[in-house]
Amino acid sequence: MDKPRISIAGCGFVGLVSAAAFASRGFNVIATTINKKEANLINSGQSPFYENGLDEILKKAHELKNLRVTADNYEAVQNTDITFISVGTPMKEDKSIDLSYIDNVSKQLGKALKDKESYHLIVDRSTILPGTSRNLIGVNLVENSGKSIGKDFGLCMQPEFLAEGKSVENTFYPDRIIIGEYDKKSGDTLENTYQLFYKEYFSQNECPIHRISLESAELVKYANNCFLATKVSFANEFANFAELIPNVDIKQVMEGIGLDYRINSRFLGAGAGFGGSCFSKDVNAIKNWASQNNYDSKILKAVLEINDDQAIHIVNIAEKLLKDLTKKKITILGLSFKAGTSDMREAPSIRVIKELIKRNVGNIVGYDPKAINEAKEYLKDSIVYVNSTKDALKDSECVFILTEWEEFKNLSPEFFIKHMKTPNVIDGRKIYDYIDFNKKLNFKTIGLK
Ligand code: UDX
Repeated sequence: MDKPRISIAGCGFVGLVSAAAFASRGFNVIATTINKKEANLINSGQSPFYENGLDEILKKAHELKNLRVTADNYEAVQNTDITFISVGTPMKEDKSIDLSYIDNVSKQLGKALKDKESYHLIVDRSTILPGTSRNLIGVNLVENSGKSIGKDFGLCMQPEFLAEGKSVENTFYPDRIIIGEYDKKSGDTLENTYQLFYKEYFSQNECPIHRISLESAELVKYANNCFLATKVSFANEFANFAELIPNVDIKQVMEGIGLDYRINSRFLGAGAGFGGSCFSKDVNAIKNWASQNNYDSKILKAVLEINDDQAIHIVNIAEKLLKDLTKKKITILGLSFKAGTSDMREAPSIRVIKELIKRNVGNIVGYDPKAINEAKEYLKDSIVYVNSTKDALKDSECVFILTEWEEFKNLSPEFFIKHMKTPNVIDGRKIYDYIDFNKKLNFKTIGLK
C-alpha cells in the first residue's frame, strides 16, 4: 500500500500536531483552517501556539515540503485520500456541546465528495456525543454528496487522547488506537494507514488496535475523560476525609491505593481540582446528553460538585488560618490549569479568585511564568498582575500555590519568610514538604489536618 494522502480539517492542537506528525513521516498533508494568519504562519514552518516538540516536527515537515495549509476544504478533499475532522466542539454557555463547527465542516466535505471520483475516507477525531458520527456527520456527507457511505466513501470515528504539553509524544507513542467504523472497509483503510505510520513502533511495542462501532468509539472518549476526572475528584473527596483526623497525609493514602495494579497511581493527585479544555467540557456534555435522554448521572454530578467545591475549600483553609482575609494582600502563584501550558481554560485559579472576591478580598496579586497574557483575558482587572514570584510575595500575608510549575517547586520556606509580610502558605498542589514547611512557617495543604 502506498502512503495515502491526508487532509486535516482544523489546525487546533490536535489537528496541527497530527498534520505535522504525518507530514514529518513522509505523508503528503493538506491541513485547513479558516484563520488566514494561522495558515500563513504554519506555511512558513511556524506554529501559531506553543506545544512541546511541535516546532521540531513542523520544521521537518517544512523541509520535506509535504505540509500545506489552505482555507479550502473542497480542494483538500479533491487532492487527498483520507480526511480527518479535528475542529473544536466547545462548551456552550449552558454547558452543553456546540456542534456547529462539526455541522459546517461535514457539509463542506459532503459537497467536495460529490465531485470525487475515487473512494475517500472521512475520520472524525473531534470529541462528539454518541450518535453524532452517523446522524450528523454521516447524514451531512450523504445529503451534500448524493453518494452513499460504505460504497463511495467510508466513515470512521477515532477518539484522540492527547494531553496538552504531551500531544506530540502521545501521537508518536500511543497506548492504544480506537477505531470506530461504519463498515469493515472504512476500518481497514484507517488501520492500514496506521500500520504504515507506526511500522517501527508497532514492531517493538504492544499497542492494541481496538475496532468497534462508531457509537462505542464516541463513548470511549467520554468514558475515558470522565473516568480520569472521577479519579481526581475521588482523590479530593478522600483528601477531605483525611482532614478530619490528625496524622493522615492524602499523598500517602493515594500512593497506597495506587500500588494496587487494578487502580494504578495516575490521576490520584489531590489538590486544587481539575481544569483544562477537556475534563469539564466532556463531563458536562455527556451528563447533559444523558439527562436529555432521561438519565440523570449521579457519579458525574458528584465529580463536578467536588471539583467546584475544592476552590471553596481552599479558601476556607486560608480563612481558618488567617481569620479575616478581607483587608489582607493575597498572592496567587500559578494561574494556568496545569504546569507546562499557558492555557487558562477552566483553571482552578479562576474559581479560587472568584471565591476570594465573593468574600470581599480586594487586594489579590497573581503571577504565572507563562500564562499572564491569557490570564488577563479571563480575569480582567480583578487582580493585579506581576512578573516575578518575588514581586507577587511583596507585602503579602497569604499565598496560594495553584499550579505545579517547577520554579515554584524549588522555593524554600526561607524564601517565603524573606519576601512576605506574614508567611502564610496554602499549598493547593501539594508540592512542598509538609514537615519542613510546617516547622518554619504557617503552612496548610489539601488532605492534611
Ligand atoms: C486531558 C486528557 O488527559 C486527554 O487525554 C484529553 O484528550 C484532554 O484532556 P489535559 O486537559 O491536557 O488532557 O490535561 P491533564 O494532564 O489530563 O490534566 C487535567 C487536569 O487534571 C489538570 O488541571 C490537572 O492539574 C488535573 N489533575 C491531573 C489533578 O488535579 N490531579 C491529578 O492527579 C492529575
